Parts: sequence; structure tokens; C-alpha cells
Amino acid sequence: MHKHIMPTYASLPVRFVKGKGAYLWDDEGQQYLDALAGIAVCSLGHSHPEVAAAISEQANTLTHTSNLYYIDKQEKLANKLCELSGMNDVFFANSGAEANEAAIKIARRFGHNKGIDEPLIICMHNSFHGRTLATLTATGNDKVKEGFAPLPAGFIHANYNDIPAIESLFEQHNNIAAILVEPIQGESGVNIPADDYLNKLRDLSEQHDCLLMLDEIQTGVGRTGSFLASQQNGIKADVVTMAKALGNGVPIGACLSSGKATGLLTAGSHGSTFGGNPLACAAALSVIEVLQRDQLSQRALQLGAKMNAGFKQKLQHCEHVVEVRNKGLMIAIELKTPCTELVAKALEQKLLINVAGGNNVRLLPPLTITDAEATSIIDIVSDLIIAH
Ligand SMILES: Cc1ncc(COP(=O)(O)O)c(C=O)c1O
Repeated sequence: MHKHIMPTYASLPVRFVKGKGAYLWDDEGQQYLDALAGIAVCSLGHSHPEVAAAISEQANTLTHTSNLYYIDKQEKLANKLCELSGMNDVFFANSGAEANEAAIKIARRFGHNKGIDEPLIICMHNSFHGRTLATLTATGNDKVKEGFAPLPAGFIHANYNDIPAIESLFEQHNNIAAILVEPIQGESGVNIPADDYLNKLRDLSEQHDCLLMLDEIQTGVGRTGSFLASQQNGIKADVVTMAKALGNGVPIGACLSSGKATGLLTAGSHGSTFGGNPLACAAALSVIEVLQRDQLSQRALQLGAKMNAGFKQKLQHCEHVVEVRNKGLMIAIELKTPCTELVAKALEQKLLINVAGGNNVRLLPPLTITDAEATSIIDIVSDLIIAH
């Protein structure tokens, strides 16, 4: 690690200097296949020509003005996001954590407007919502909180995919303002809940007049086979947060509201210097254009099913494997034992993968990968798992 960089990441000793599609090149000219896409960010692959052109054109026209003025590209992007999600309006931020901060503020305002002095947000164990103080408190993992007390109040946790646990929290507390939940838990290992889990949370939140807030930061923008993962449940949340793939690598976050969550953040109550600036919005607009034109969510759905079948076939006799699971191109192979060392082993084979939650090989490849690239990923990862 560089002596002038705070060592918040145990980075691998490789320095990438160029990317194209599903490939990266290091500073020695070695080529790597990327099955992680910058942690679900570069869903259109690296250096996508149309996104690069949109960024370049915008940089040569106007990069930033601040939200003190109307921003044409921001308006266009808000229209597009609302059209695709069915939501009503958008606050633009620069990251996932910031998008969730906006959601948390909306939940608190919603609670206060109902006369609740200390509104609570129900979050889930094993969730991940970011690294700011509020979002790490929402996060259901004690490790990320160590040494950062005092933490903000107002967050309680329930087991994921456990409806009785949520019902019991509603019985115990009369000050719940919102439920904040990922449609699939990404960071803790691609935990896919029961098909009707989100529908039941939608029902419960209506029954108790609180907000359903979906963190679609990792699942959104086509990765799971629809623009938002929750669209496969046929539900609309009150708040949806997005980031990651929205800018294909240009930092952007978005907090969308609808229904009873609309209109709670008013002038002066929230803001961001950079949020929704012309450069980030131009990148996101071109990402969405390509995503729609090239039908990449459908591609994610088909290829995800194919990769799942491919892994199951290759690993059918492998005793270390608990399960292969996926939703679109959010894929995990769960092993019986911890397997973090597979990341470095894959790197030696010039493949980028990730291990989440200790014993899940997690794959989040670009949605643009070819069948042949998908086959290479299956072959290399399966061999590594078999040798584990
Ligand atoms: C579901 C989810 N929410 C929030 C975040 C935080 O996003 P960011 O790192 O952009 O702040 C992440 C990042 O991994 C995430 O996966």
C-alpha cells in the first residue's frame, strides 16, 4: 500500500492502467478477465465507447455549475429514472452511501410528520448500506461499526428473509417509520430471499403506515434481469436508492421517492455540491440508453441462467459446494468453508473475482460479456473451487 494512502483497503498488488469491455490490463501489459466489474459498477464493460464519448462531450461542454441553477441533463436523467422505475422524483448524490443518507433523512421526516419524536428504521442483519455514520449503523454487521461509537440512534435490526421477525418488531415498537432492505443482500454473499419476501414487506409497511425503502444500489440498473430487482415482484417501494452501475464508473447516486415519501426533502433540508452535475448525469443518461437499446437486463437474465447451469454442471461432484445461486448476473457459489484465498488464486490465473461473506465466491461480471467470456469464467472458477 502506498504510504500516503490511508490503508482502508487490503488492495491486491496489481495496478490496472487500461480497460476495454470485460478486460483490464496491468502496468506490465498483462491482460485480465474481469468478473467483478469494479464491484457491480462497470456493467457496460470498461471504456464503453458511447459512455466515453458522452463523458468527453460533456466535459468539453460543461462539467459543473452546482444545484443553484437548473441542470438540463439532470432533468433528463430524473425523467428517465422515474419513467423506468415508476417513482415520482429523485435526489442526486455521488455514491451509494449518500443516496441511503437521503433515504434515512426522508424516513425521519416521514416519522416526524406523523408525530413520532424518535422514528425507528428497521434494517436487516447481514445487510450493507455504506460507510457513513448513519449508513454503517443501518448496516447489519458489527465489524463495520467497531471503534466508531457513538453511533446515531434510530436503527433496529431483524433477520433477513424473516417476516415473523419484522411482525414482532412492529408489535414491540410504535415508532417505526421505515423498513430499509436490499432486494438481494450483495456484500454478505448474494443472499436471495423468498420470492414473496418483498411483497410481504410491502404489505406490512402499508399495514403499519411506514415507508418501504429498497436499497437497489447493487441490484439496480439491469443486473438482476430487470431495471430494478423489485420490479420482478411487481411492487413499487416508497423510496429506492441506486448508485454503482448508474454511471458505469462515474460517481453518481440517486434516491428516488414516490407516494407518501414524496416531497419530504424540501429546499434547504438536504443538498450536495456535486450531486447530479452535468458530467455525472451525461454519463448515466448514456448508460441507460445503451442498457435499453442493447436489452442488457434481458441478457443478464439469460446469461445468468446459463452460467448457473454451467457451474452446476461443472461442480456437480464437488463436495465443497453448498449451492450455486443467482439472479441475473449476480452470482454466488457458496462453499462449505472460507475461501478468501481464491481471490488471489484467480488473480494468478488473470481473472478478477470476489469472495463475500467468507465462503461465497461472488461474481458480478459486466452485462456485456460474451458467451465465450462467460464460459472462461465458469471454467477457471470451477477449477479453482475443485482444487480448493
Ligand atoms: C447494497 C449496497 N448499499 C450501499 C452501498 C454503498 O455504496 P457506496 O460504496 O457507493 O457508498 C453498497 C456498496 O457496496 C451496496 O452494495
